[in-house]
Amino acid sequence: MEKYILDNNILLDILLLNRDRKAASIKAVHYCLINKCGYIAASSIHSIIYIVSRQNAILLAETWALLQKLNVCKTPSYIDYNHKLAKSDIEDYLIYLSAEAIGAKILTSDKDFLNNCDLTISIDDFQAIIDSNFDSFKSIPFLSLRQLNKPFESVFEKAYDEVIKSGWYILGNQVKKFEINYAKFNKTQYCIGVGNGLDALVLSLKALQIGEGDEVIVPSNTYIATWLAVSYVGATIVPVEPHIDTYNINADLIESKISPKTKAIMPVNLYGQAAELDKIEAIAKKHKLFVIEDNAQAQGATCNAKLTGTYGHINATSFYPGKNLGALGDAGAITTQNSELAQKVEVLRNYGSPKKYFNAVKGYNSRLDEMQAAFLSVKLADLDTDNNKRIQVAGWYTEALQNIWDLILPKLAEKCTSVYHLYIVRTKRRNELQDYLTQNKIGTVIHYPIPPHLQEAYSDLGYKKGDFPLAEEIAETCLSLPIWPNMQKNEVLIVCKSIKLFFDGE
Ligand SMILES: Cc1ncc(COP(=O)(O)O)c(C=O)c1O
Repeated sequence: MEKYILDNNILLDILLLNRDRKAASIKAVHYCLINKCGYIAASSIHSIIYIVSRQNAILLAETWALLQKLNVCKTPSYIDYNHKLAKSDIEDYLIYLSAEAIGAKILTSDKDFLNNCDLTISIDDFQAIIDSNFDSFKSIPFLSLRQLNKPFESVFEKAYDEVIKSGWYILGNQVKKFEINYAKFNKTQYCIGVGNGLDALVLSLKALQIGEGDEVIVPSNTYIATWLAVSYVGATIVPVEPHIDTYNINADLIESKISPKTKAIMPVNLYGQAAELDKIEAIAKKHKLFVIEDNAQAQGATCNAKLTGTYGHINATSFYPGKNLGALGDAGAITTQNSELAQKVEVLRNYGSPKKYFNAVKGYNSRLDEMQAAFLSVKLADLDTDNNKRIQVAGWYTEALQNIWDLILPKLAEKCTSVYHLYIVRTKRRNELQDYLTQNKIGTVIHYPIPPHLQEAYSDLGYKKGDFPLAEEIAETCLSLPIWPNMQKNEVLIVCKSIKLFFDGE
């Protein structure tokens, strides 16, 4: 969606009741607010407030309310006083710089500005755009990271400034603070920040000294990272099929795969739902095995009222940007109640170095960086709220999509909750449905189109089609619908309406 910076005169038309232009300006501003594409240049705020404050207090309050609904666009500091616009009108020039920096158009009714700057659009031309774009109300992305992070932007800037000013960029106070707070969130004794989720899994296996000759039980239905971690440490992957209704590893099938070489079970809390971690914990205890949770997708979910990320001897998570707790780049962490394992990971993530330039073991460079830790601390404060919003969005989907023959909705295992990292539906007509939704401007993704055992990367293991039929069935029929915490009910209903039209044969 195009971004529009609203020039002062558009906002003043509305606030100061310029009768000639008011109706068109109101329509333009409404369009920008509904589509969340309206911006005000930071450099404009002062003059609008100055003009309005000379009128009356009520108008001033209305102005603040309106300004707070707009996105604020920073004024860049690369000012060229010799620029043509700077010489004719410095205020217009500053708005132009802001528009150029974020790739926006400027909505204005100022004739000189319209003549002198090719980023401007008049109210009349904008009217035509609104009319022709009416359909764009219906366009719903699978996920917009920009929209996801928008509520945090101003606090991110503060966090960014704090890190810059600290002059400390690796393993400093931001990482320490995040580790303490994430451990608190997760109700574990320890949290160690690392570079990404895959490293969190690898370092967990390393800390448990799992390697060549050992077997690790993993789900056949998972993202390939779970398998790759086991491969990286040289251990043998032993896949176990999922429940076809929850998509998580079927705990009842695990015991038959345990051999004298088995060292660990690595359940994945997939798509946001906790696996049957209580059952898995009991099996591990009985057979003296380690449990390593892959909790990349379910921060905040529970099994038997106990949080994911707390069941395993050691647990790995990912803060990849699209995750429920997502950074602005790569990041990950491990959580554990075991001080010895925590210490081992702390050393392993930093060159095997418990003390600077003293290397106890051959470690890695996989540190959570200060900037990401600072951003993550901002988002962690809202993680419970955001998870609850996802649960609400999932509820809207489930309610609206009931009773569609041939469409399977997500199901929860007894005693397990989901934080709906993804909302997965299944149908034999998956590819057709996805095409139909794409044509109707609704984004969807397949998680995942090829199960790990059929990936080319694992051709060396010699698996063939049919070896893990349930993982294959899920890969052939699953479709992830758009979901994010601030998704609105009307957006969910637009998606559902399209799905119903598809199944009703339109
Ligand atoms: C189930 C699962 N495990 C592990 C990972 C790896 O995380 P990262 O991408 O941060 O390395 C992911 C991330 O995509 C994942 O979904």
